[in-house]
Amino acid sequence: MKSIDKVTVIGGGTMGNGIAHVFALSGFDVTLVETTQELAENAINKIDKNLSRMVNKEKITEKDKVESLERINTSLDPAEASKDSDLIVEAVPENFELKKKIFRSVDEAAPKDAILASNTSSISITRLAAITNRPERFIGMHFFNPVPVMKLVEVVNGLETESEVTRSVEETAKKLGKVPVPVQDSPGFVSNRVLMPMINEAIFCVYEGVGSPEQVDEVMKLGMAHPMGPLRLADFIGLDVCLDILNVLYDGFRDSKYRPCPLLVQMVDAGKLGDKTGSGFYDYD
Ligand code: 3HC
Repeated sequence: MKSIDKVTVIGGGTMGNGIAHVFALSGFDVTLVETTQELAENAINKIDKNLSRMVNKEKITEKDKVESLERINTSLDPAEASKDSDLIVEAVPENFELKKKIFRSVDEAAPKDAILASNTSSISITRLAAITNRPERFIGMHFFNPVPVMKLVEVVNGLETESEVTRSVEETAKKLGKVPVPVQDSPGFVSNRVLMPMINEAIFCVYEGVGSPEQVDEVMKLGMAHPMGPLRLADFIGLDVCLDILNVLYDGFRDSKYRPCPLLVQMVDAGKLGDKTGSGFYDYD
């Protein structure tokens, strides 16, 4: 089984910086790839802030934080950064053409036995794997936001993923203190196939005037013990991301039960995407 020591994380946004954070904190050497120096610095600052949060809560020591940050290098070149990596985790925006360009160059540059993984929440792992010359060493490594907190890594096997690669990724996830759950590639995998229809139905409740966002969320928080109501969670995930995933489910299964609520489409059209734009079902500072 391939042992993983050096990891390249491509993309330093919400998911990417969280993924780099957990790898570095667990002792892996990490190269974090961004498109500009400024974005790379922003990602490191975010990791610094989230590690400090853990120091303040006495979950880790100041020494752990300093050593973790020392283990992270940054790069602006995905191919160069993958040259001596054991595992490459892609966490760039959900745009197939962008991922295709990255995986083509990474596949050429990375060692032949390196594992290529995508943190995609909606694009088929089998389709991404087919971009490369190593579909048997390609896998989905789906983390959850906030990455330092959420225990799950959904390990998504493409049609050709070798079982040795699955085992290696599961072992790596365990070293991060996570719980890997292997599933087969299918639209939305398990996580978003179950989560997104619930969020969509909550939006329909608001759309049809059954309840306000606050009322729908209170019902689910107090009645079902959800840490966040589905509409607060939709804002947290990003309404554009929710819409993309629902469209993947709708197109993938050709089943009307996955049709996105017109209110969700309108909110995305209006640029009200949730936390990241300062407004969605709720307003944020
Ligand atoms: N980094 C490190 N630690 C963090 C953190 C971060 N970014 N964000 C929160 N935390 C820690 C806090 O320090 C705190 O630690 P403690 O338990 O030791 O005190 C703990 O998380 C709880 O945080 P808070 O007290 O500040 O706030 P809450 O109690 O409201 O919890 C939450 C925040 C953890 C986000 C919680 O509301 C939650 O679990 N929400 C649901 C999140 C969820 O469902 N995520 C999955 C989204 S779906 C997805 O990502 C998949 C994609 O494909 C769409």
